[in-house]
Amino acid sequence: MEQRKRIVVFGATGRTGEHVLTQSLEEGYDVIAYVRNPTKLSLQHARLTIMQGDIFNEEQVHHAIEGSDAVLCALGVPMGSKLPVCSVGTQNIIQAMKRNGVNRLIVITGLGVKRTRGDINWFERAFLTLFLCLDQAAADDKEIQEDLIEESQLDWTILRPPWLTHGKKTSRYRVGMGESVHPTLISRISRRDLAECMVQQITDRTFIRQAPYVMY
Ligand SMILES: NC(=O)c1ccc[n+]([C@@H]2O[C@H](COP(=O)([O-])OP(=O)(O)OC[C@H]3O[C@@H](n4cnc5c(N)ncnc54)[C@H](OP(=O)(O)O)[C@@H]3O)[C@@H](O)[C@H]2O)c1
Repeated sequence: MEQRKRIVVFGATGRTGEHVLTQSLEEGYDVIAYVRNPTKLSLQHARLTIMQGDIFNEEQVHHAIEGSDAVLCALGVPMGSKLPVCSVGTQNIIQAMKRNGVNRLIVITGLGVKRTRGDINWFERAFLTLFLCLDQAAADDKEIQEDLIEESQLDWTILRPPWLTHGKKTSRYRVGMGESVHPTLISRISRRDLAECMVQQITDRTFIRQAPYVMY
């Protein structure tokens, strides 16, 4: 009998992370939710282990990842936060994965990181640049996060959603890059659908070491 896969979800109390958590349990995984505040999680499940910790704590992150098969990262910060949660957090995750011999990493970043700006027209680019200036620290943090992931040598996949909504799960979205999936500033995806895509990446190796958009 095949052993159940064990995954770790970072950002599991977040608006996307909560769906990643429920959907990965529905898919039959053993799930470690690494959270700062366990009281935010009302979910109880026989295959769910809640570990309390901060992403800045290297040792705790190491213990969360020990013995797992894949890591899903839906970390983020509220607007205006200057904390390097995505970059330093991802650095800690990558180090812990290497220490534990865990290879599969799936992370959400988004439309807006510098290297995605060539995929939108000049007007949209100008708008997005202005918008991101309102939260420059978070935008810079995401850039560093992507660099760290790409340099990691792990089996990573970066998912780049455009605007996220609280809409329902449709399972009807596109995942890809280039001509096949081309975002605009009005592109959308629900957090539930993004979570589904993220969970699928655990076993789907189509986008290993790639950073596709995921959107309607
Ligand atoms: N909003 C959009 O339209 C949009 C578009 C494209 C991409 N994105 C990206 O998508 C990702 C997910 O977005 P979201 O709205 O679902 O995020 P969110 O609701 O803000 O959730 C962020 C998660 O990160 C956790 N976190 C923050 N600091 C932490 C720390 N020091 N230690 C441990 N955990 C920490 C939060 O924990 P707490 O609950 O304890 O705070 C929360 O679980 C983000 O990276 C965001 O930038 C968003």
